Amino acid sequence: MAINYRPLDRNESNIYRGIRLESLKEFPDAFSATYEETSRIEKLSMEYSIENGTAEKFVLGAFDNSELIGISTFVKDENGIGNIYQMYIQKKYQGQNIGFGLLGNILKEAKKRFGEVTVSLEVSIKNSSAINLYKKAGFTIEASSHGSNTLVMTNKKI
Ligand SMILES: CC(C)(COP(=O)(O)OP(=O)(O)OC[C@H]1O[C@@H](n2cnc3c(N)ncnc32)[C@H](O)[C@@H]1OP(=O)(O)O)[C@@H](O)C(=O)NCCC(=O)NCCS
Repeated sequence: MAINYRPLDRNESNIYRGIRLESLKEFPDAFSATYEETSRIEKLSMEYSIENGTAEKFVLGAFDNSELIGISTFVKDENGIGNIYQMYIQKKYQGQNIGFGLLGNILKEAKKRFGEVTVSLEVSIKNSSAINLYKKAGFTIEASSHGSNTLVMTNKKI
């Protein structure tokens, strides 16, 4: 199986929306947004960013041939910190090192665009698969937030 990783193009906001909603439906505990609320939003903020080609906000996709099977979103904030959100690999593709590949490629893309940047993300304290993945990619636990249900993890100056 040949998996390719690349940022989504301006004309791919529709496939982003599809897989984002799928991730919320399939893994309701992994994200702070809900499927019900998100599906009611006519156009998601990230759909606009994809269509506008905003450099500071992009979605990296994992593709099996031409099919989008995983996503991760990168947002560089006003403090110059990079934030990773919405990490998702479709169920049948999980456990095959694709999440690790996607994370490595989104960090590489961020470095290409912005140079060295500190990257932060939040993860539920119960989501051990994701916590292990982030640790493997060099992230360390910085703090807990939201009544300690969430860990903040950072990867300093990638
Ligand atoms: C978390 C997620 C992105 C991982 O993607 P994946 O492609 O399955 O992960 P990989 O196969 O690349 O695994 C990389 C590392 O992650 C960790 N990991 C992945 N699945 C795991 C599991 N079921 N149990 C424990 N650790 C796991 C391991 O450290 C693994 O490295 P190893 O194989 O050397 O042990 C994927 O499971 C997913 O989409 N989950 C649902 C949504 C979600 O939780 N998103 C994260 C929100 S913060």
